[in-house]
Amino acid sequence: PLPTLLSLAFGYLLGSIPFGLILTRMAGLGDVRKIGSGNIGATNVLRTGNKKLAAATLLLDALKGTAATAIASRFGLEAGLAAGFAAFIGHLFPVWLGFRGGKGVATYLGVLLGLAPIVLAVFAAIWLIVAYFSRYSSLSALVATAATPVVLWFSGNEKVAALFAVLTAITWWKHRANIGRLMSGTESKIGDKG
Ligand code: G3P
Repeated sequence: PLPTLLSLAFGYLLGSIPFGLILTRMAGLGDVRKIGSGNIGATNVLRTGNKKLAAATLLLDALKGTAATAIASRFGLEAGLAAGFAAFIGHLFPVWLGFRGGKGVATYLGVLLGLAPIVLAVFAAIWLIVAYFSRYSSLSALVATAATPVVLWFSGNEKVAALFAVLTAITWWKHRANIGRLMSGTESKIGDKG
């Protein structure tokens, strides 16, 4: 149906805006893809040493997911789910960057804010606890995204849980290099320049 198709297109366009790349360029810090992990997300923007820019990247990459879902949800849950999925895919595979985008964590939590805000609190608590003890951004995201579909399922949000099961699987796949580094003990910790 038309609202779902429009939501897919709208979500993809919003999601594909690479805020990390835009902000670091505007700040004269060069191409964030040439430092650290090469990723365009907040964790790698932090490796430039600019905390405010990293926070802004996290916020904007999240809000594009929230905006897409919140606006499309006015046309029903299916449209909201479609826009959230498309925003996430847009962030990971932006046509503007040859389909080489980010790893999805900020947009994931932004979509969660749009569809199930209470579960976002659970996601944030898990992320913060794992990050506090491990100092690994990637590990925190892996654990928080693993828990999210389960929490959604048990809170009765079956359709939203199904969407997030897919988003979690894609997030884990996008983190395969991070998983390798975590297993070999070579992953860089939050704030490290690595
Ligand atoms: O949220 C992204 C984080 O999990 C990994 O980022 O730059 O360390 O690969 P990065």
